[in-house]
Amino acid sequence: MTTPIYLDHHATTPLDPRVLEAMLPCLRDEFGNASSRHHAYGRRAAALVEQARERVAAAIAARYSELVFTSGATESNAIAIQGTARMRPGAHLVTTAIEHRAVLDTCRRLEREGWPLTVVPVDRCGRVDPHDIARALRADTALVSVMAANNEIGTLQPLAEIGALLRDGPALFHVDATQAVGRVALDVDALGIDLLSMSAHKLYGPKGVGALYVRRRPRRVELQPLADGGGQENGLRPGTLNVPGIVGLGVACELALACRDEENARLGRLRERLLGHLRQALDGLSVNGHPEWRLAGNLSIGIEGVEPEALLLGLPELAVSAGAACSSASARPSHVLEAIGATGATTRAALRVGIGRFNTAEEIDRAAQLVVERVRALRAAR
Ligand SMILES: Cc1ncc(COP(=O)(O)O)c(C=O)c1O
Repeated sequence: MTTPIYLDHHATTPLDPRVLEAMLPCLRDEFGNASSRHHAYGRRAAALVEQARERVAAAIAARYSELVFTSGATESNAIAIQGTARMRPGAHLVTTAIEHRAVLDTCRRLEREGWPLTVVPVDRCGRVDPHDIARALRADTALVSVMAANNEIGTLQPLAEIGALLRDGPALFHVDATQAVGRVALDVDALGIDLLSMSAHKLYGPKGVGALYVRRRPRRVELQPLADGGGQENGLRPGTLNVPGIVGLGVACELALACRDEENARLGRLRERLLGHLRQALDGLSVNGHPEWRLAGNLSIGIEGVEPEALLLGLPELAVSAGAACSSASARPSHVLEAIGATGATTRAALRVGIGRFNTAEEIDRAAQLVVERVRALRAAR
């Protein structure tokens, strides 16, 4: 069998060869512990970490001292949300119905432990209305957590409006920007963001490394750490730093910043090409997400009269997913599709395509052909 065409870039991205090149010396020779400041190995490792910190900060227009390295976005979200909540026992939390489980389930756990929670709905395109956020706010709201870009339907949220609402107020603004960093222009000051989560493996970097932005100026955000230990990362995320991973994240951010606009234009064209092929050959299609406010490479599509499992099983040459990768492993329907009202037949037939940096027009044409053939065969067998 030929290598399947990879169209699942919301689940993870391949390592960019330039990122790998930058990481290799750290895996081979530069093995020092970045906390060992008394010898050259440690100091070189520390210098590499600080260079990466500058690069990551540049991707979101932050100051480098405001970046904390973590093991990925799940951990960044946990430190941001639990860290804020534990500073203010019993305070009110706000989030939205289409967050990643790493945010929603963390908020739900806190709710069970005594932090009141408001989950704000979204419209049929997956956008939250800033007025709904405003209505949810209370005098004791400690945190509002809204994702930048959705991992299933690609919808972008009105971060600037929400940030403006929260500016100078008591509630902190946390943004899970895992799918947006490197794809969407993000400026933490302009958007009024206090905490921001990201992950390297969503932007052509390695798995198991990410970062959390924690605002220091003009107001200093105080979080309670989830672990105690060697005091690394200002005590917020103790543990020996993953130097190769951090170097990879830094280079991935630098590359993404350099090619973002050009890449988005190309991915947008490939997405339209795929949708055009499918629409030409098939009826009963519905596109999930927002027509304009969305990630360029995302195509979430409902295909009437087709079970996604049956569709995917018959497509071994394609690496795509049904709904979100995490919920496709469980039998649960996607909470994102439920939240936008795409339930019933549409929920069952949702196919998530994530087009990425190394995909070609030939791959898109072949992918469309495979999907069309498979859908026709399944419909004919009904
Ligand atoms: C929006 C969002 N948040 C958080 C995560 C979790 O990221 P990680 O795999 O780095 O823990 C993901 C990954 O699927 C995601 O898409």
